[in-house]
Amino acid sequence: MPGIVIAGAQWGDEGKGKVTDLLAERASVIVRYQGGNNAGHTIVRGNDEFKFNLIPSGILHSEKKSVIGNGVVLDPRMLLGEIDGLRRRGVDVANLRISANAHLIMPYHVLLDTAGEAKLGKLSIGTTRRGIGPCYADKASRLGIRVQDLLDEKILRKKIKAAVEVKQQALRELSVQRRKLRKDADRTQDEPPDPRIDLHAMTEEYVSYGHRLEPYIADTARLCWDALDAGETVIFEGAQATMLDLDHGTYPFVTSSNPIAGAACVGAGVGPTDITEVWGIAKAYTTRVGAGPFPTELDDDIGRRLQDRGHEFGTTTGRQRRCGWMDLVALRYAARLNAMSSLVITKLDVLSGIDPIKAAVRYRSSEGAVFNEFPYHQSIVHSATPEYEELPGFEMGIEDVRSESDLPSEARDYLRFIEDFVGVPVRLVGVGPDRDQVVWIGEPAAAQAA
Ligand code: IMP
Repeated sequence: MPGIVIAGAQWGDEGKGKVTDLLAERASVIVRYQGGNNAGHTIVRGNDEFKFNLIPSGILHSEKKSVIGNGVVLDPRMLLGEIDGLRRRGVDVANLRISANAHLIMPYHVLLDTAGEAKLGKLSIGTTRRGIGPCYADKASRLGIRVQDLLDEKILRKKIKAAVEVKQQALRELSVQRRKLRKDADRTQDEPPDPRIDLHAMTEEYVSYGHRLEPYIADTARLCWDALDAGETVIFEGAQATMLDLDHGTYPFVTSSNPIAGAACVGAGVGPTDITEVWGIAKAYTTRVGAGPFPTELDDDIGRRLQDRGHEFGTTTGRQRRCGWMDLVALRYAARLNAMSSLVITKLDVLSGIDPIKAAVRYRSSEGAVFNEFPYHQSIVHSATPEYEELPGFEMGIEDVRSESDLPSEARDYLRFIEDFVGVPVRLVGVGPDRDQVVWIGEPAAAQAA
């Protein structure tokens, strides 16, 4: 009864969607366990490119159950948009299931996220402005509205009313700020309420979403249990990544949920002993979107080259991703936090033609102290200077390579250096965007399962 977690090992956008799509071949259920439509997964199949924000990356395997777990925060308007988009492209979504306990992103969450960021000014986190933080905050405050509430108009109205009442002050400030921006601060009296947060309109809108989503709503924890109990494989798909984890990432420059593997249990409703493998996904270099410390960031030609060749623009917001060398101090930290059993290195092809290749193996603080492990103190992470190991690069393009022995020896040495340093075997390497552009190290996972 294998339960396999797929977790991001860096700051997100490592290519988890493609790995999920590949490993899904051996699974019967694929469940997203946290995050919301702040995530973005791209899966390329031949000439077809699919981009998902919310729907699990297993959806292209229409015979398998694709589950949005209870740990996810769900914007129903965005989800319905994704469902419609997939249907238009002929993808069968009948096996999609949504946890009745997942929390709903409401229009006021999006407004509060945007307003919160504006208020922080230079200190802003660089959120995706999708309402993620305010929605998780409401969940913890027990003011959240859940998917199951969509099915009862009376309860839904009551809950929206209670939640909005508490937010009146923040929303009022928000509306004053908006008026200030429009330079008509004096006309405060007759300002009509924002139609997006009008109680009646919001309730109507969400009731209509409920009608459309009803066939997909289920007890998804039970569904995962049944599959595991029957000896089937369940894949737990994480969004974002370890360094963006609310508890273990570079707080406060993090997301509002826990992407690490342990959270798969809470976010899907299974027990720790149901998890048998943890696959950590890392790029052959590092990227980060939004603000926050990034020790190996490059502000030079190599950084720009990684950005161009790696097409490093966010799937969700289109923002340019910050780029830098592989950070093995952070990767080893991620390996430990996730108890990783396998490592996947994606986008190795982007490094071809870069010589030497560098990988950070320790940090030095501004006071000269050496850190072999990821420092717990934020000030040190902010000012840390990485110290690098230099490895010979490879000239040859590797996009068409499909077996380990055909990789240039320098590329194999780089992979070996990573796995020795981190202490986790590299099982899969990405050499291009298409789902076939991979090199299995050892047996493919699907063949092992057979
Ligand atoms: P939020 O999740 O929208 O609240 O944003 C918090 C931080 O997480 C910001 O720095 C975002 O750029 C980052 N973030 C959220 N989702 C992703 C993702 O899928 N990939 C990379 N960064 C993300």
